[in-house]
Amino acid sequence: MTEPDVESIAAGLRRQLADRLAAAGRLRSPGWRAAVEAVPRHELVPRFYAETDAPGLTTWVPVTPELVGLDEWLRLAYADETLITQFDGREIDWADPQPVSDAHPTSSSTLPSLVVRMLEDLRVEEGHRVTEYGTGTGYSTALMCHYLADDRVTSVETDPHVSARADANLARCGYRPRLLIGDGLGGAPGCPPAHRTIATMGVRSIPAAWVRQTRPGGLIVATLRGWMRSLGLVRLTVEDEHTAHGRFLTGDPTFMMARQQDAPASFGMLPAPDEGATRDTRYGPEVLTMPDSGFVAQLALPHARHFSLSADDGTVSTYVLDARNDAFAVLTPDGDGWAVRQGGRVLLWDAIEQALALWQDAASPGPTGFGLTVTPDAQHVWLAAPDGPSWRLPA
Ligand SMILES: C[S@@+](CC[C@H](N)C(=O)[O-])C[C@H]1O[C@@H](n2cnc3c(N)ncnc32)[C@H](O)[C@@H]1O
Repeated sequence: MTEPDVESIAAGLRRQLADRLAAAGRLRSPGWRAAVEAVPRHELVPRFYAETDAPGLTTWVPVTPELVGLDEWLRLAYADETLITQFDGREIDWADPQPVSDAHPTSSSTLPSLVVRMLEDLRVEEGHRVTEYGTGTGYSTALMCHYLADDRVTSVETDPHVSARADANLARCGYRPRLLIGDGLGGAPGCPPAHRTIATMGVRSIPAAWVRQTRPGGLIVATLRGWMRSLGLVRLTVEDEHTAHGRFLTGDPTFMMARQQDAPASFGMLPAPDEGATRDTRYGPEVLTMPDSGFVAQLALPHARHFSLSADDGTVSTYVLDARNDAFAVLTPDGDGWAVRQGGRVLLWDAIEQALALWQDAASPGPTGFGLTVTPDAQHVWLAAPDGPSWRLPA
């Protein structure tokens, strides 16, 4: 029996992946197509966890050639899926890998359709210097090395183990970008300003260092996130070392958040039953979770989180808590509608209702109807135009 030829199977799967990404409109230019066809994702992510579609708690199962067989391992490595390589900031015990649930992924190879879309959106040209934040497995870093050249690519990773693994795998594949270890929210120390900046982790606002370290006229592509949900992908043009502006390209992608910006473990105590003032409201908790109104709610409440709790009588209430402002809103079904009880330094549900009213006056656009302006003093997401209604992002 002859050994299966991993390299030729992988090359075929890469071509199929490129075809699928092109058919979906994600892969648009020959240069990025050549990169997808060349970069061996299975070498950069040789073992990983894949999400199962079993009902209930999200569960991930380990994938290696030994566990699932060579063909299935390669098929999954070239699927348009996120491949998880770390949970809760801890290294995986690959000597005895077990299914994982009730955990928080902290490093991965992002799904290729999103990586490629972001790279296309970055409008990279020959000779450009690019800085990436969130090296992860190094897959996106390798795509950029292939498209440009090793010495044009810098990538910053906060986790030394993750960076070391990416370094070794990239080197084995023949890629030698500049890899830095550190908190990318502080930029890429010692690097000259880049023509392009890309982040494959979510941030609550654009770090000042990213603007400072991108050349005037250069572009930043990143995803903004809040503690309730992702806001979406933005592309900013840098004006000078403190100022940038641009629009949301989509509201879809969800990235794991920069580790230093994760939501606090506790949002404080639940309000006592007699705390706050109660009134009717026309909005139920669905405005927090529907795609477009959820985007607006996230802008209105940058420091809040929400969750549901059942009372002994079966009534389900939604709690919105903001520990920073010591504020709460509790939504409870009331006849055919909803009642809200709120208290604290900020009236959270009033803030949501005001934001939704402004949004509806503007014909309720999706995320692409919004933009972002970064100045030395503040960052504002605006609706329709820079002088339209706006919401300040957390610094
Ligand atoms: C979604 S993964 C990156 C995917 C990667 N580009 C790839 O193609 O494999 C996000 C990465 O960002 C890293 N990260 C989180 N916070 C960071 C920070 N403040 N600075 C740099 N990297 C960070 C995580 O450790 C994780 O490896």
